[in-house]
Amino acid sequence: MAKPVTSFTCTSCGAVHKKWAGRCDACGAWNSIVEEAPLSAGPAAKSLGGARGKAIALTDLSSREPPPPRTGSGLSELDRVLGGGLVPASAILVGGDPGIGKSTLLLQAAASFARAGLPCIYVSGEEAGAQIRMRAQRLGLADAPLKLATETNLRDILTTLDAERPALAIIDSIQTMWADNVESAPGSVSQVRACAHELVTFAKRTGTAVILVGHVTKDGQIAGPRVVEHMVDTVLYFEGERGHQFRILRAVKNRFGPADEIGVFEMTGAGLAEVANPSALFLSDRNKPVPGSAVFSGIEGTRPVLTEIQALVAPSPLGTPRRTVVGLDAGRLSTTLAVLEARCGIPFTGLDVFLNVAGGMRVTEPAADLAVAAALLSAREDVALPADTVIFGEISLSGALRPVGQTENRLKEARKLGFTQAIAPARGKPGGNAGLKLREMADLAEFVGDMFGAG
Ligand code: TYD
Ligand code: MG
Repeated sequence: MAKPVTSFTCTSCGAVHKKWAGRCDACGAWNSIVEEAPLSAGPAAKSLGGARGKAIALTDLSSREPPPPRTGSGLSELDRVLGGGLVPASAILVGGDPGIGKSTLLLQAAASFARAGLPCIYVSGEEAGAQIRMRAQRLGLADAPLKLATETNLRDILTTLDAERPALAIIDSIQTMWADNVESAPGSVSQVRACAHELVTFAKRTGTAVILVGHVTKDGQIAGPRVVEHMVDTVLYFEGERGHQFRILRAVKNRFGPADEIGVFEMTGAGLAEVANPSALFLSDRNKPVPGSAVFSGIEGTRPVLTEIQALVAPSPLGTPRRTVVGLDAGRLSTTLAVLEARCGIPFTGLDVFLNVAGGMRVTEPAADLAVAAALLSAREDVALPADTVIFGEISLSGALRPVGQTENRLKEARKLGFTQAIAPARGKPGGNAGLKLREMADLAEFVGDMFGAG
């Protein structure tokens, strides 16, 4: 039999390489590849072909079984991101930077589930029991019938869970757990993978929902949450800017609900508070109109969310002007600048450009293009956009404005927040305007001419 060879694994994405390299070809991370002990002796020498297994029962799609009942957590922002509550036997990964508030969120959720009568177990491999109890006290959750354990040995945890059979088990964090049948340190790719596999299998076998916490790691010594993304049903990322109190829980994968759904929270002295109306929150700092600010009416998951896009354009002392982007894709900024130059004759050469989404929000929709262009032009021309106007639309490379989905939802949200005008791409078919003065435009040049004179 062939001798098992050591492999080289990327701690960021889990890709396996034949030899060490400074950069992972699969995900592009630097210095993330480490040598790992072999996982197993490899495939058995004999193929399964001749073996006789037992026949498995086959069913059809139109089964009469009702869909699995979901349990609400009482935190409606969390339930929304989960797709309408917790599904039994599901495995959920909650990833995020250290210190962003994952433990706080899950302690609040667990306490809330426990109060609703769901047997819940919270296993921490990071904090001492006293620390967790202190936090629970501060959050006003000390009376919740939540069962707590501090343990990192997976075998003991599984034995306990098997005996208790809770409805929900929270493992904080997967990187601190270790399985004694895997010969590598806790946090290594093989340990994280093996532990996640055991826990996911446990969830499927017993019906317990399992939530795994995974720290996003910066250096290559500890495997990141991406290593287990493919094993779980739902992947949520908890994100936010350090300086801001807003936290956004984003579903990047969900087998039981829409992906891209977000829940918005605010970190307060008494834990995470839900933000029911994020648009109002993200626009709360706006007062009088200033150049370089445009309000974008976006869709996050199933919900419209209004955000303010801010731009600053200034003469650059550098040979290669700066392009600094926070909360948006840098590639899309380059594209938008190129289209403005090529199709509207507005160059940004020799100018530094800074672009930012207010409030620590991250916008990934292409529909933000037009609002970005508006903010850039407004900053460059030093002309404020009308304060009561929302803007959305995708810009194609030809300079044409492409209609985006859910126009009416975007308009309704804007109206709810007191906006009276909207600028949007021309739609092929007639549609409602939700009571707003809607200005539909066919291309970027028309927009520039309309808003800033001849351009
Ligand atoms: P934590 O949940 O420990 O983060 P993670 O588990 O993701 O590493 O959150 C820690 C941070 O949250 C810490 O910087 C303090 C802050 N925090 C508050 O601001 N208010 C609170 O009520 C709590 C419990 C934490
Ligand atoms: Mg924690």
